[in-house]
Amino acid sequence: MKFTLQAQDKLSKARAGEMETAHGTIQTPIFMPVGTAATVKAVHMHELVNDIQAQIILGNTYHLYLRPGLDVLHKAGGLHKFNNWSGPILTDSGGYQVYSLTEVRKIKEEGVTFRSHVDGSKHLFTPENVMDTQRIIGADIIMAFDECTPYPCDYNYARRSLDMTHRWLKRCCDRFDSTTPLYGYDQTLFPIVQGSVYKDLRAKSAEVIASFEREGNAIGGLSVGEPAHEMYAMTEVVTQILPEHKPRYLMGVGTPVNILENIALGIDMFDCVMPTRNARNGMLFTKEGIINIKNKKWADDFSPIEANSDLLVDQIHSKAYLRHLIRSQEILGAQIASLHNLHFYLWLVTQAREKIIDGTFYAWKEKMVKVLDQRL
Ligand code: GUN
Repeated sequence: MKFTLQAQDKLSKARAGEMETAHGTIQTPIFMPVGTAATVKAVHMHELVNDIQAQIILGNTYHLYLRPGLDVLHKAGGLHKFNNWSGPILTDSGGYQVYSLTEVRKIKEEGVTFRSHVDGSKHLFTPENVMDTQRIIGADIIMAFDECTPYPCDYNYARRSLDMTHRWLKRCCDRFDSTTPLYGYDQTLFPIVQGSVYKDLRAKSAEVIASFEREGNAIGGLSVGEPAHEMYAMTEVVTQILPEHKPRYLMGVGTPVNILENIALGIDMFDCVMPTRNARNGMLFTKEGIINIKNKKWADDFSPIEANSDLLVDQIHSKAYLRHLIRSQEILGAQIASLHNLHFYLWLVTQAREKIIDGTFYAWKEKMVKVLDQRL
């Protein structure tokens, strides 16, 4: 993987860059639609490619390991072949899902034992087997196995957990570096900074993570319930330490405002379920602000879903129609709203990139934050 910085904002730490992967080039800052179980929920691959020009999508080790399972993915020739997405893929390691989705779990030095949320069966994830699993899935960018601490988290727990995450990182790197890709193209491993909301732990973690000298770095353990100002304070500490010339990925973030503020702090990559999950409940992100399409006020509004949008479904369907579909729990409602929201998120980061390059990012960001700043 190669990362080139193309422009740097003068009034903030925002940057525009380009990442070259085996499955294509990604222009940053970028938002990565979440495709947990080998699909971006309710959105077809041809829509991702043709309608919203998604540049990279996410997959989840935890879900893919449980279903369809590694045998099927290996026989398919990896996830790209299985789901027919030919662009870059990043897989999360399960270091978040085992904590958020499983009820019975035990964290030990060796790894985490948990029960599947699908059928209750018992499994063990270790730094080593999670690397092997991501080799089999065949993602271009794979994530280290970490512990994502909850919020709130007391200092001593956060400190001990962080030390373990760092020891796990060493094991991840050793395993990754002693194995080879299965499908003939390069993969790269990103480590993850943790440290809860404690500045000294975040700084220490960023230093340890940087010392591994991987091709890119991630920040985890944020957007887990902490106030936004604490999230930004942590990002700021960490981006001051992580190397400039490598991509920085902020995991699981966030609202449009969170994304803009974190771009301003030097983040290049984002993912979040919000645009797709909230779409299914009728929350629409638009250039004029955030609306709930289920609201009565849209019942007889036959104007397009979004004025001046270049997205086909925004032009050909009305707010009233989408409201009806969502209220009736029609599958098409979820499809249209998901595509609309992803289109908005990708528009937002593409705009940010253009503004960084033409030198007008900061003023534009301040204006957009005012338009989009709604409590979610
Ligand atoms: N997704 C959102 N936050 C995290 C995190 O802290 N770790 C991992 N592995 N994935 C995440």
